[in-house]
Amino acid sequence: MKVYSTLLIFIFFVLSVTAQSVKITHGPYLQAVGVDEVTIVWTTDKDAVSWVEVAEAGKESFYAKERTPFYETKNGNRIIGKLHKVKIRKLDPGTEYRYRVFSKEVLSYEGHRILYGNIASTDVYRVKPLLFKTLDSKKEEISFRVINDIHSRIADLKALSRGVSYGETDLVFFNGDMVSSMIDEEQFFSGFMDESVSAFANQVPAFFSRGNHETRGPFSIYFPDYFPTTSGKLYYSFRQGPVYFIVLDCGEDKPDSDIEYSGLARFDEYRSEQRDWLMQEVESEAFKSAAYRLVIVHIPPVGSDWHGPNDLNRKILPVLNNKGITAMISGHTHRYSYLEPDASLHDFPILINAHNTMLDIKANATGIHVARKDTAHQVLNVHEWKPSK
Ligand SMILES: [Fe+2]
Repeated sequence: MKVYSTLLIFIFFVLSVTAQSVKITHGPYLQAVGVDEVTIVWTTDKDAVSWVEVAEAGKESFYAKERTPFYETKNGNRIIGKLHKVKIRKLDPGTEYRYRVFSKEVLSYEGHRILYGNIASTDVYRVKPLLFKTLDSKKEEISFRVINDIHSRIADLKALSRGVSYGETDLVFFNGDMVSSMIDEEQFFSGFMDESVSAFANQVPAFFSRGNHETRGPFSIYFPDYFPTTSGKLYYSFRQGPVYFIVLDCGEDKPDSDIEYSGLARFDEYRSEQRDWLMQEVESEAFKSAAYRLVIVHIPPVGSDWHGPNDLNRKILPVLNNKGITAMISGHTHRYSYLEPDASLHDFPILINAHNTMLDIKANATGIHVARKDTAHQVLNVHEWKPSK
């Protein structure tokens, strides 16, 4: 009888520990990929401390030796929380790595004593370890995709991200309005990010260009924490292969004082801040030395007399004109449009992608080839851009 009750207590203990084990709830996914760094992001259902183990690419088992752990820290302290962001530095350019994420549950933290629980991790035994590759300005040909204005239509997102794959696709741009409003973390993940992770984002980086709809809602000020960039801002630049990308954050489309924003919008000043940054960008050697210069911005700065586009028109276009911009890629209108260069407004073409189509883009020394495709991957339009110099 005593043996039975001991066994029952043991089974109950195992079940209760298993039931309460910390779990990875969203991700992991790649962010802020650079030539020598990457940030891995994920969430857990319980407070935890986290780290990522990184291994060189190759056939050798992940278990062949102890792998270098990279910890989530701030000012020297390891961070306890449910959102985990681990920055991995000092990587080599254009190099493939394998990674595994870990979260160790923190059951209690009283005084200076911590009681740890179980560990959740991604699998490297039954499945292959996850991979990432750092950026490489010397890469001869790159392939990337642009998706925008999804507004939580998961079926369209699924169709438009089909075929994005590690080794084939360098990166994906979410060019704004992936959701209609930023309500909370759950809506942010269910609206587009969970599907993106299962489709590609754990191995192919998604770069975000914020849309006006992502500036709205109680979660809007927190969601950038889930999309860290190498600059720490929502506007940034990077180079991959022959292309220098400038990603801008368009802000809202109506005046900051509009009743819809309840006194919370200050985007005029923010667009001025971006103009000042952009003026330095276009003078940088990295910008000038690239064969192509693409600007990614959700709201096109022409074609509307609303305040947001007008303000972009006034502040951004004069900085970009006469600087050898190859093209600007926008969304927002939910309608395809191709605006040829106009010497008085924009001396580069502006390509506006619709909400239910994608841009499949390849760039190499001879040109940039853009194929706009629908959800069935039928090609609707083709554009070719030649090197800017
Ligand atoms: Fe929009």
